[in-house]
Amino acid sequence: MSDADEPLLRVEHLTTVFDLPGGPVPAVDDVSFEIRAGETLGLVGESGSGKSVTAVSIMRLVQPPGRIAGGRLLFKGRDLLTLDERAMRGVRGADISLIFQEPMTALNPVFTIGDQIAEALRVHGRASRSEASAKAVELLEAVQIPDAASRVRDYPHQLSGGMRQRVLIAIALACRPALVMADEPTTALDVTIQAQILDLLRDMKSQFHLSLLLITHDLGVIAETADRVAVMYAGRIVETGPVRAILQDPLHPYTRGLLASIPGGAPGRRLKAIEGSVPSLGALPPGCAFAPRCPDRFEPCATQPPPDVAVGPDHQTRCYLYDRVPLKSDARPTDAVR
Ligand SMILES: Nc1ncnc2c1ncn2[C@@H]1O[C@H](COP(=O)(O)OP(=O)(O)O)[C@@H](O)[C@H]1O
Ligand code: SF4
Ligand SMILES: [Mg+2]
Repeated sequence: MSDADEPLLRVEHLTTVFDLPGGPVPAVDDVSFEIRAGETLGLVGESGSGKSVTAVSIMRLVQPPGRIAGGRLLFKGRDLLTLDERAMRGVRGADISLIFQEPMTALNPVFTIGDQIAEALRVHGRASRSEASAKAVELLEAVQIPDAASRVRDYPHQLSGGMRQRVLIAIALACRPALVMADEPTTALDVTIQAQILDLLRDMKSQFHLSLLLITHDLGVIAETADRVAVMYAGRIVETGPVRAILQDPLHPYTRGLLASIPGGAPGRRLKAIEGSVPSLGALPPGCAFAPRCPDRFEPCATQPPPDVAVGPDHQTRCYLYDRVPLKSDARPTDAVR
């Protein structure tokens, strides 16, 4: 593989545990995926599946009792887990930024939005004090906030939820990072505003040449926005593939269930949610974590977690229904199917 083919971020065997009184709980369990230059990877799964912990782990912002217990985070070929904290502070915001779910709590109520954008620029030495306010207006214009030159002096509470989310996107973009992770960026918003924010993210992605990790529990959002999809269940990635393959031919029973539960998701199927809920991560069944809810489970499912297998070009899943070539940890999916 040439350097040009090297993904922007390669997450390898990432494991993040919470040390709780009852024992360590693996919120992210041996997770591997890659984000390529210029693509949008959708990370999807029900609430509690480990999506936010994955993003926070990539930023190395896991708070105790959580800790990253293993794996590698290769960003532009460099393992973020080996950086000292000072170097990591240089990466956060400047190379990789994270847009949190809740736009109200992510902004500081006592500073104007212009000051908060300017601060993001100054922290990374991207603008002097005098340049920063002009750049803040430019960024507000980029995220299509009307009348940016005067809104820049507003405090967060003076803005609507949708406008606050635009400000957070402006802050995330301020230092021109290569990777933006957006954690449920539209979940707290009204449906019409959701569509506008997704449009904006798509525009920003092409205008700023970003790669985007779009985290959502909503496969409908993924369908409209992502190039590839990683489906997460109980701390593990259970299926990855191109968005079209995942939507037209979902293979993992969990992905099928997610798809059947979105309106218009699977033609001819009845709209229904997957029965049951994500099991407690501290007490997962010994085999496939989805087995207690799986309509297709059979005898091997209870023994040990299924391996990752290649099921099509760039498409892989972890399920005993598919017994093709198990992936070696360092093999690319396409190598295994050729
Ligand atoms: N601060 C915490 N303390 C203990 N456990 C946590 C904490 N944060 C997350 N977890 C565990 O990690 C799991 C995944 O959480 P999260 O990544 O927030 O899920 P998602 O974003 O997919 O909804 C939770 O179900 C919980 O078991
Ligand atoms: S491994 Fe078995 S229980 Fe798990 S998703 Fe596949 S068929 Fe269902
Ligand atoms: Mg979350």
